[in-house]
Amino acid sequence: MWAVVFDLDGVLVDTAKLHAEAWRRLAGELGISLSEEFLRSLRGLNRMDSLDRILEWGGRTEVGPAERERLAERKNRWYVESLEHLTPRDVLPGVVELLDGLAFYRVPVAVASSSKNARLVLERTGLAKRFSVVVDGNAVLRAKPDPTIFLEAFRRLGVFPQDGVVVEDAASGVEAARRAGARVVGVGRPEELPGADLVVSDLRELTVARLKALVDSAAP
Ligand code: BG6
Ligand code: MG
Repeated sequence: MWAVVFDLDGVLVDTAKLHAEAWRRLAGELGISLSEEFLRSLRGLNRMDSLDRILEWGGRTEVGPAERERLAERKNRWYVESLEHLTPRDVLPGVVELLDGLAFYRVPVAVASSSKNARLVLERTGLAKRFSVVVDGNAVLRAKPDPTIFLEAFRRLGVFPQDGVVVEDAASGVEAARRAGARVVGVGRPEELPGADLVVSDLRELTVARLKALVDSAAP
């Protein structure tokens, strides 16, 4: 049996830009300006790791733990507010077709997301009913690029990671998936996703057969 584990933000749903907007707003209040490239490098990292990187980038390492908690909560409030406008139209191109294909062939699928808001995003976009296995930022303490989240998703699916494919838009997620022993499809720009076995611009480029071929190409 083989399986596919999907990242959520930026792979299934167009929420990566909402995270980026909220971080940019918070950094702006701190007098820190963030480039698009820097914001992309935050993808996949959990909330506190992202904030730590921003404060380091902005030379604000003196900010203490209690203030960091407050800042992270502030960013999350804005992010959750922006989710109120989320609908099934925010599901990214090719996602529904690919999930339909995988369901037709009874290929098990899971979501593995660093976000503590993953369930809310899945509910609002109508994707929740398609996934019996969801491992999110509430379930896993060690964040990507640590492989734990993907190992846990494959464990719950009852499939060896070596027999699986992960679909990821973040460099930290590609690294985590490789460390878990799975094949990896990167979604985005090849130069920003080193280590991916295949890189696509979006899920319209993926088919069940293409994913299966990737699993079959894995070294025995
Ligand atoms: C990931 C996003 O899926 O979840 C990151 O790519 C985000 O940008 C992380 O920081 C944590 O999300 P949340 O909703 O728990 O703050
Ligand atoms: Mg992502």
